[in-house]
Amino acid sequence: MSDKIYVFDTTLRDGEQVPGCQLNTQEKVEIAKQLELLGVDIIEAGFPISSPGDFKSVLEISRAVREPVVCALTRAVEKDIEVAAESLKYAHRKRIHTGIGASDYHIKYKFNSTREQIIERAIAAVKYARNFVDDVEFYAEDAGRADNVFLAQMVEAVIAAGATTINIPDTTGYCLPEMYGQKIRFLKENVANIDRAILSCHCHNDLGMATANTIAGIQNGARQVEVTINGIGERAGNTSLEEIAMIIQTHKDLNVHTNINSKKIYMLSTLVSKMMRMPIQPNKAIVGRNAFAHSSGIHQDGVIKHRENYEIIAPEDVGIAESSIVLTARSGKAALRYHLDRLGYKSLSSEQLEETYQRFLGLADNKKDLCDNDLRVLMEGELAPQQVEINHVQVVCGKPLQPVATVELTVDGVSYRESATGNGPVNAAVRAVDRIIGEFMVLEEFLVQAMSRGSGDEGKVHMQVKYRDQLYAGFGVDEDIVMASVKAYVDAINKMAFAKKNVKAPALEKAS
Ligand code: KIV
Ligand code: ZN
Repeated sequence: MSDKIYVFDTTLRDGEQVPGCQLNTQEKVEIAKQLELLGVDIIEAGFPISSPGDFKSVLEISRAVREPVVCALTRAVEKDIEVAAESLKYAHRKRIHTGIGASDYHIKYKFNSTREQIIERAIAAVKYARNFVDDVEFYAEDAGRADNVFLAQMVEAVIAAGATTINIPDTTGYCLPEMYGQKIRFLKENVANIDRAILSCHCHNDLGMATANTIAGIQNGARQVEVTINGIGERAGNTSLEEIAMIIQTHKDLNVHTNINSKKIYMLSTLVSKMMRMPIQPNKAIVGRNAFAHSSGIHQDGVIKHRENYEIIAPEDVGIAESSIVLTARSGKAALRYHLDRLGYKSLSSEQLEETYQRFLGLADNKKDLCDNDLRVLMEGELAPQQVEINHVQVVCGKPLQPVATVELTVDGVSYRESATGNGPVNAAVRAVDRIIGEFMVLEEFLVQAMSRGSGDEGKVHMQVKYRDQLYAGFGVDEDIVMASVKAYVDAINKMAFAKKNVKAPALEKAS
């Protein structure tokens, strides 16, 4: 029988420490309910002494969920523990997570203390917490850089004081996987009462090794993992829940299992990203936009022949509808035939396919990626895709004015200008474009990312625009975020093939 790995989700505590990503209580409760449906075992709901908002969130999450243990973080300080206990009063199952620094860096430079005094404080905190709850987790902060012999003494002492889970955080993301695994093994072999507690991995990603370290911890006897959705968290983030869940599901040889319903992973990842306004990098493992997208001819051919040639996880297993075969100038005939088949253009002879492929390459050279309508145009040749270009974008905004945008576009060689108001400058500009194009399109997703730090830098906008039940992706880059947004919107429109007669605006002039 495989061992159970307890999944301790800290999206709402360590994850929420990301600058600019704070959530309100209602949003946290919504995420907590979804975490319960995902099947996490423990939800770290906050650090109640840190703010009245955090206190309220732990209180409300305790009321909202039933199955998972609700956990509250504290320092090794009596007042913290009292406040945490109060915030957990409605929890069906509750845990206090208390702890103190274990590395000499923390002992000397954070606490100005000694190893002996720190152990005394650790014991006192655990005993105090046990007055309020039976389930006490102890964290040995910066255990990643702590001396293993001292760490073992500390762990033994806090287990004797009543801690039932021992968290070994690699707080600074310093450890190599083998080093972290050895640390767990050392504790398993050198702490006399270790059988009375579960060892937990809490790894940060400063060197990109959080997931590898957590797996090394499991391989050496840890049975709880502390993770966040999308790997969000302090600095470079925490171990990502989806990566650990899917590694365990994929590698049966680890001989462990979790209670995670992997089919809900993508939905929750999107929810957290949207609520925290934190875009997911496109190449993020498991949940990134490109995680199941194949674009090179060799890979596309392989996936079409047998999905497992290039995919170790089925997209449906994480709640993604299907893999995507992206059509670009690097795609081969297999990918083209696959998409034409899908659109109903079946049974093309090899000569017909060859001829279509040559025309496809001509089109693909001029476009970054091709969509279904491009293929229809290629096959039926009746609707020329409309070429929309941006001439000018001007916005007037600032409180208390209502933003107004004037946009001038050239559509198939004819220029048009329209103005519109909106609830923000981007909204106004998009509405002005809509007035020219004269079609009903819905902005489904709008993500802005700075290309690098600094306010003088370029911003990148990614949009998903829905038109007649189909989604079109658009990208735009500019120093001006409104301009980048209009570029992204027009990029999406250029992938739609509506006839130019739809343009409602009066023509300005014939472009030369
Ligand atoms: O990274 C860390 O050490 C922590 C502890 C507070 C558990 O987040
Ligand atoms: Zn942490």
